Amino acid sequence: MNAMKEIRVFAPASVANMGCGFDIMGMTLDAVGDVLKVEAVAGDGVEDGIRIENRSAADLPEDPERNVITPALRAFMALYGVPMSVKVTVEHKITPGSGIGSSAASSAAAVYGLNELLGRPFSDEQLVKFAMEGEKLISGGTPHADNVGPSLLGGVVLLRGYEPLDVVRLPVPERFCCTVAHPGIVVSTREARAVLPHEIPLRSAVSQWGNVGGLVAGLMSGDVELVGRSMRDVVAEPHRKRFIPGFDELRDAVIAAGALAMNISGAGPSVFALSSDMETAARVGEVMKSHFAGRGISSDIYVSKVSNRGARVLND
Ligand code: HSE
Repeated sequence: MNAMKEIRVFAPASVANMGCGFDIMGMTLDAVGDVLKVEAVAGDGVEDGIRIENRSAADLPEDPERNVITPALRAFMALYGVPMSVKVTVEHKITPGSGIGSSAASSAAAVYGLNELLGRPFSDEQLVKFAMEGEKLISGGTPHADNVGPSLLGGVVLLRGYEPLDVVRLPVPERFCCTVAHPGIVVSTREARAVLPHEIPLRSAVSQWGNVGGLVAGLMSGDVELVGRSMRDVVAEPHRKRFIPGFDELRDAVIAAGALAMNISGAGPSVFALSSDMETAARVGEVMKSHFAGRGISSDIYVSKVSNRGARVLND
């Protein structure tokens, strides 16, 4: 490739952890996501470089070294091994800090777009590895793929292992709907990870892996009730729920409104609930909104189908 090429891509939002799957599971949302234009020129004599322009409404770091796109693309370009100049224009951005994989969608869209431009030199798994470099930047050094995996591949993504990376894509029963509430509280991923214990009691581990197994079995068999009762987290949630005012009361109200389960979305402070139809999902959104409003906290509500589609090229 010597002439400049360009492509517009979309990478969807995602919900990491899905309750019990801390750092190993995530699911893809429909419609909400990042839109990026990726332009590249590669070949002998081209000077290596990455430029990022923000045309979205989101407030992104001016310094490219603090933008997740940079380490993700750098990892891609290092392995590709041909000098390359890349420009990324962020056209639309999920609100940063909204707890639905905003940073992951940017890294996923950038590496996906560049891979498409270059004729797909890298596998899906390799793209997940590159995009994880962006997550490393914001999480305090621990790379995880439970947002970038779904954002790239769609559906529910299970990270069976990290060393070596083993990515398993699971089907999503068509009728799953997700409600996410993003309260106006700031909790960084770094802070939410810092409160976690380094060791957990065996009893908690037994409970957690029982739930992970139940969640996978429920997804594979389309048993929504089993999925709902498996989405319980005894590892991260007990330490993180203090960041979310009235978390236990909110969950009781959401379950009473008909949701199958409610948990923290990723590192929080957003929460998400899974329902088996859109009407329930919308009702749950109202319950969440009024819960936070009653505590003087504004919130943004997203109601979306869970999607089997990941990053994709946009045709103008
Ligand atoms: N699995 C991650 C966490 C998701 O819970 O910290 C947030 O990036």
